[in-house]
Amino acid sequence: MSKIILITGSTDGIGLATAKMLLQKGHKVILHGRSDTKIDNAKQLLQSFADADMIDSFCADLSIKAEVIKLAKDISEKYQNLDILINNAGIYNTPEPITSEGFDLRFAVNLFAPVILTELLVPIIADNGRIINLSSAAQAPVNIDAMKGIKKLSSGEAYAQSKLAITMWSMALGKSLPSNGPISIAVNPASLLGSKMVKSAFGVSGDDINIGADILTRLSLDEEFTSKNGKYFDNDIGKFAAPHPDALNNQVTGEVLTAMQETIAAIN
Ligand SMILES: NC(=O)c1ccc[n+]([C@@H]2O[C@H](COP(=O)([O-])OP(=O)(O)OC[C@H]3O[C@@H](n4cnc5c(N)ncnc54)[C@H](OP(=O)(O)O)[C@@H]3O)[C@@H](O)[C@H]2O)c1
Repeated sequence: MSKIILITGSTDGIGLATAKMLLQKGHKVILHGRSDTKIDNAKQLLQSFADADMIDSFCADLSIKAEVIKLAKDISEKYQNLDILINNAGIYNTPEPITSEGFDLRFAVNLFAPVILTELLVPIIADNGRIINLSSAAQAPVNIDAMKGIKKLSSGEAYAQSKLAITMWSMALGKSLPSNGPISIAVNPASLLGSKMVKSAFGVSGDDINIGADILTRLSLDEEFTSKNGKYFDNDIGKFAAPHPDALNNQVTGEVLTAMQETIAAIN
């Protein structure tokens, strides 16, 4: 049966390639981006693979809390049911790393936005639905002052810390969802896939982006993953694996997630 799948950050890279794969399999895809022009371009490209009514789109800058909330509201008003949410949008390096709200862009886009969006969309996510959260092989202990916007980090540090934090949150979300409800899976889509993020961060052309799209498609649809709620899939080795040890430490995870929720709540 055709599913309804929201992919954040699907105007480029792994998200766009995943949208194409899912459309080719007959599913409805809700695209998301931060630029109307890039959304139009993505739609135009994807319309050669599916009927126009199988592609919808929303625009929102995920670095701004109010835009994330509006995105969730707009989607909930239009859709009573969402089968899959792929929290894919992400950022590594950028000329202006501080958001208009005073936070590091990596924490805002890679962590706060998926948390806010998911919490607001859970009521419309199907009981047999899935929430797929983009992690990375780059995971580093979270500096809470940096997450709160008090301490400055390099791009690589901020990125890796945001990715450990979303892995912690994805695992905790899995535990908090009802046993007959949707599941939450964190995934490293494989390292150094050739997206604009990788090209600008590391100056390399990278591997085939479809490696990432393929695992996101499988995690979204394949029956074998139904029992994997709260787990971390490492596509560098092609299987579920242990994340950074901090994500297995209840005390550290609790401190990070409490500080994260306090930080999100304090953003006006
Ligand atoms: N590529 C890899 O090897 C790799 C490895 C591990 C994890 N990942 C993760 O995979 C995900 C996809 O990354 P990618 O490599 O495909 O990168 P990408 O090509 O740069 O795509 C990132 C997507 O996120 C969107 N985005 C960025 N900032 C945003 C914002 N403030 N508001 C709304 N949307 C925003 C981008 O929009 P624009 O098109 O407008 O920029 C784009 O659609 C990320 O979470 C990344 O951390 C990638």
